[in-house]
Amino acid sequence: MRIDVLTIFPSMLEPVLNESIIKRARSAGKVDIRLHNIRDYTLDKHRKVDDRPYGGGCGMVMMPEPIFSCAEAVLKKAKGPKNGRRILLLSARGRKLVQKDFQAFSSYKHLLLICGHYEGVDERVARDLADEEVSVGDFVLTGGEIPAMLVIDATVRLIPGVLGNDDSVKSESFQDGLLEYPQYTRPAEFRGKKTPKVLLGGDHAKIEAWRKKEAVKITKKIRPDIIIGHKQAP
Ligand SMILES: C[S@@+](CC[C@H](N)C(=O)[O-])C[C@H]1O[C@@H](n2cnc3c(N)ncnc32)[C@H](O)[C@@H]1O
Repeated sequence: MRIDVLTIFPSMLEPVLNESIIKRARSAGKVDIRLHNIRDYTLDKHRKVDDRPYGGGCGMVMMPEPIFSCAEAVLKKAKGPKNGRRILLLSARGRKLVQKDFQAFSSYKHLLLICGHYEGVDERVARDLADEEVSVGDFVLTGGEIPAMLVIDATVRLIPGVLGNDDSVKSESFQDGLLEYPQYTRPAEFRGKKTPKVLLGGDHAKIEAWRKKEAVKITKKIRPDIIIGHKQAP
């Protein structure tokens, strides 16, 4: 899979992409991530990427020209079928992403992520360049770089072979409409607080049943909105 990020702050992403599982996935050739500075596609000597909004109002808006030119340069080099590619504009007003979206993203051959800044980007980027505007939550950040890192992290870990054990994602929160069951590790007793006996007994059927029951209980308590319609829901 290939991921291109269009940003005016590529150095914000570099440290995150060069650590831990994402770093390993890159070294193993599971994902090819490239950062592009939108400023490199400006036409003036000040490398200006923003301007005042037409109609007035506060703040600055990112101009369409450098973003379109940057995206076109990337797409020209990264040839491939259009249907294997998704252009996402990170945007507070976009569709709010959930786990199944990242599953879908992980099956694309090519993702192109556009990070806005300031008051946002010229509407023509959303309308005529991006396939979709996506949001990481109902709040406003200063730029699209942190959302882009989030999208990359949540997507790359779902590419087959990236995690040590592909089965581990199957029991994770949101995977089947439930939050994850409680986890314990050594010591069995910590400051008088005990690990549930069933987990120490080695009876896998009983452990499985306990985990299912706890996952339903926790989901009903914390996120009743996601359990609706689940087969385990009473
Ligand atoms: C300060 S925000 C612009 C907010 C915009 N004026 C609004 O009211 O929706 C600047 C940039 O940060 C990014 N951004 C902010 N919040 C985001 C969110 N919740 N999800 C995805 N991107 C976000 C977008 O790329 C956006 O263009």
